[in-house]
Amino acid sequence: MAEFFEIEGGKKLKGDIEVRGSKNGALAILAATLLTSQPSVIKNLPLLGDVLVMLEILKSLGAQINWLDERTVKIQAKDLKTQAEDKLIRKIRASILIAGPLLARKGELKIAKPGGCHIGVRGLDTHFEGFQETGVFLEKEEGEKYHLKAPKIFQPTKVVLNEFSVTATENLMMLFAGAEMENEIHLAASEPHIQELGEFLKEMGAEIKGLGTHTIKIRGKKNLKGVEHSIWPDYIEAGTFFSLAASTKSNLKIKNVPVEFLEMVFRSLKKMGVSYRIEGQTVLIEGENSKLVGAKIQTLPYPGFPTDLQAPFAVLGTQSAGTTLIFDTLFEGRFKYVDELNQMAAKITVCDPHRILIIGPTPLSGAKIKSYDLRAGATLIIAALTASGKSQLAGADEVDRGYEKIEEGLQSIGANIKRVTVE
Ligand code: EPU
Repeated sequence: MAEFFEIEGGKKLKGDIEVRGSKNGALAILAATLLTSQPSVIKNLPLLGDVLVMLEILKSLGAQINWLDERTVKIQAKDLKTQAEDKLIRKIRASILIAGPLLARKGELKIAKPGGCHIGVRGLDTHFEGFQETGVFLEKEEGEKYHLKAPKIFQPTKVVLNEFSVTATENLMMLFAGAEMENEIHLAASEPHIQELGEFLKEMGAEIKGLGTHTIKIRGKKNLKGVEHSIWPDYIEAGTFFSLAASTKSNLKIKNVPVEFLEMVFRSLKKMGVSYRIEGQTVLIEGENSKLVGAKIQTLPYPGFPTDLQAPFAVLGTQSAGTTLIFDTLFEGRFKYVDELNQMAAKITVCDPHRILIIGPTPLSGAKIKSYDLRAGATLIIAALTASGKSQLAGADEVDRGYEKIEEGLQSIGANIKRVTVE
């Protein structure tokens, strides 16, 4: 059974839309609940594909999962297995996040090769080399499986990562949270979800210094506590709504925005002529009054412009006067959406695997398009709502991995979008 979205664009949107809990924050926090045998209660969970798979992974490791209400889950991992079901591990890349907690609690794990998005070569070298610096022994087994074993006694370690990898930083933080000595991570990533994980680990009992910087020091504990935590709002979803409002020239009120994490995104909105107001945690995008102009957008590890927002901002580029250069310094496979936008009459040239040049403004027109990854999916929905006429977007399942029932929120602000199921 496949699902696609049918979208009729060219109409202004109006009203309020609320940002949900962070996908990448939730994925790391769910993995971290494995660090203790005590129960943790996680609130404000976004009910999206990747999060539900992560809960299945925890279950297959032996954790008990009880839903307390629609978005609140109680997780208790009293006894843990050292291997989760392969087919679940292969569904999402974030499944690698169970490695840190399992090494801390069980001293070993066997894991299949994680799956995930088709957005370029993303090996696990940074994870494995980071682990190996702590003394973890890695063996590659048949069938693309890995066996990782922690040393019996840990020595205090200063790990220097190969690059500012988000999930590798999170894995090491979780491993160190369970070790009773001070360890350091240098070239640590500092994305908001890493800061959120750090706050969660502190609540569990670890001592952590340097959160939000690229050097993190952690003194862990063998007996960490279960905690209650509410997932922080998703800064990527908020930025996606900014582009939606500005690209469709709509005035939208976006609520529950983690404005403190969006400094570089606000700077880009300003450069591109988007008029907006910030009132506490609410952002009003005044798309109707904005005079959009092209600009250069360069993605970088946080606090730089997030790679997860470059695609949504490309649609904004198509509606802006002049040229927009998007330079994704991180991924080399994240421009597959360009062919789809060009089918909708955008004028975008792929210069090399890291750069695209957009000439604008171009009126977009509806087309039959396909989403290859979840951020591209949200991008093509924005493009289809900006375009005149009807679009059909195949690959709804990709969008569902990262956005909870995206069509429902959009319908509430007047978007003409429906999900169609085909046998
Ligand atoms: N990279 C660099 N230089 C750096 C850091 C990273 O070139 O300094 C490259 C890596 O080689 C890799 C890519 O950038 O190709 C991403 O690296 P990273 O290891 O940080 O990615 P990740 O941990 O696998 C997380 C998010 C991604 C997000 C990236 C980058 C989770 C579960 N996933 O992935 O989220 O794009 O960080 O911020 O947290 C998404 O939500 O759609 C998504 C793909």
